[in-house]
Amino acid sequence: MTGLAKYRIAWLPGDGIGKDVMDCARLVLDQLALDAEYVPGDIGWEFWKSEGDPLPQRTIDLLKQTDCALFGAITSQPGEEAEQALAPELRGKGHAYFSPIVRLRQQFDLHTNLRPCKAYPGNPLNQRDDIDIVVFRENTEGLYSGVEFFPLPQEVLEVLSAHHPSMAKFEKFGRENIALSARIMTRQGCERIVTQAFDYARKHGRRSVTVVDKPNILRETGGLMIRTAREVAGRYPGITLQETNIDAQCMWLVKNPQDIDILVAENMFGDILSDLAAQLVGGLGFACSANLGAEYAVFEPTHGSAPKYAGQYKVNPMAMLLSARMMLDWLGEDDRAQRLEGAVAEVIAEGRVRTYDVGGSNTSLEVAAAVAGKL
Ligand code: NAI
Ligand code: MG
Repeated sequence: MTGLAKYRIAWLPGDGIGKDVMDCARLVLDQLALDAEYVPGDIGWEFWKSEGDPLPQRTIDLLKQTDCALFGAITSQPGEEAEQALAPELRGKGHAYFSPIVRLRQQFDLHTNLRPCKAYPGNPLNQRDDIDIVVFRENTEGLYSGVEFFPLPQEVLEVLSAHHPSMAKFEKFGRENIALSARIMTRQGCERIVTQAFDYARKHGRRSVTVVDKPNILRETGGLMIRTAREVAGRYPGITLQETNIDAQCMWLVKNPQDIDILVAENMFGDILSDLAAQLVGGLGFACSANLGAEYAVFEPTHGSAPKYAGQYKVNPMAMLLSARMMLDWLGEDDRAQRLEGAVAEVIAEGRVRTYDVGGSNTSLEVAAAVAGKL
C-alpha cells in the first residue's frame, strides 16, 4: 500500500440484509473512487449468540480509530428468545441483550438523528413528488432515556407521591402494578438538537424550522423544549420558528406534506415523525439516516435485517445508498455526495431498474450497478 487513505471508515454490515445492502454501497463508493480504507467490524446477533455481546469491545476500540461508520442492520429479539439463542455455555450467566445501535449512540454521544425524507420524482411509492422534509430527532434522551421501573420501587413511589399531587390517584393500584418510564429532557439536549436543525436550515437556505412537542400537556419537558427552541431561534434572524403539537403535526404530514420543511423533536416524537415522513416518500426501501455527534457519526438505512430476505439481494438498496450519500456530505465530499444523489435520482426517474418493493424484479446489486453506471 502506498500512503494512507484519506479516510478510515468502519464497515459494519451486521445481520441479514445488512450485508446485502452494504455490498451495494461498496460498489457505488468504489465507483466514486473515494479515497478510503474500509475497516470491517463485528456487530450484531451473530456475536450475541457466540460471545454474549452484540457489540464487542474490540469493535468499539476499532470505531475509535475511524472517522465514521457505515452500518447495515442488526437482528434483535426480545429477552427470552435472546437467552435461548445464546451458545449453551453462555446461558444463565447473566448476559443481557442491549441494542448495539442504541449503545453506539450513547457511547459516542451521537445526539442528533437526521432523517431526510425527500421524494425523488418517478418513484411510484411517493405520496407526491414535491415532498422534501428533514426530521431532526434527539437521539440520547427524552422518553427513550432508558430510565424505567416495573414494579415501581417503594422509595420511588414515596418520593413521587411526596412531590406530586397527581401521584395520589395511582397509589391505590399498588406499586407492583405500576410501570414507569421517565421522559428526561435537559436544556443542553434541547439546545443541541434545535441548534442542529437551525444550522442545517441556514446551510441549506431553508426558511423555517418547526419544533414539535406537546407542551400544553407535557408542561415541564415540552415546555423546556419550546422555550429553548425560542431562545435558539433568536440567534437565527431570517429563519422562522414554528411550534406544533405532535398529534396535529401527524395529521398535517398526511394532509399537506409538501408544505413541511424541517421538523425537530424529542426522541420518541422524532421517531414517530420520521417513520411517518419516510412512508410518504417510499418507505423502508428509501429511508436513510445519520446519527451525528460532535466527533463521530454513524450512517445507516432505517430498515432492519429483514431475515426472510437475507443473502438474496432482493431488497431495495436505495436507503443504504442515500445513507452513504449522507456520509459523503458529512465528510465534506460535497461533489461526490451530489453526484451520488443525482445518480440515485436518475435511476429512480427512469424507473427501468427497480426492486420488488417498487414493483420491479431487479436485484439489489442490479440497482446499485445502475446507480454506479450513472456516476
Ligand atoms: P425490517 O425493517 O427488517 O423488515 C420489515 C419488512 O420491510 C421486510 O420484511 C421487508 O418486507 C421490508 N423491507 C425492509 N427493508 C427493505 C428494503 N431495503 N427494501 C425492501 N423492503 C424492505 O423490520 P422487522 O421485520 O420488524 O425486523 C427484522 C429484524 O430487524 C428484527 O430483529 C429487528 O429487531 C431488526 N431491526 C433492526 C434495525 C436496525 O438495525 N437499525 C431497525 C429495525 C429492526
Ligand atoms: Mg423507528
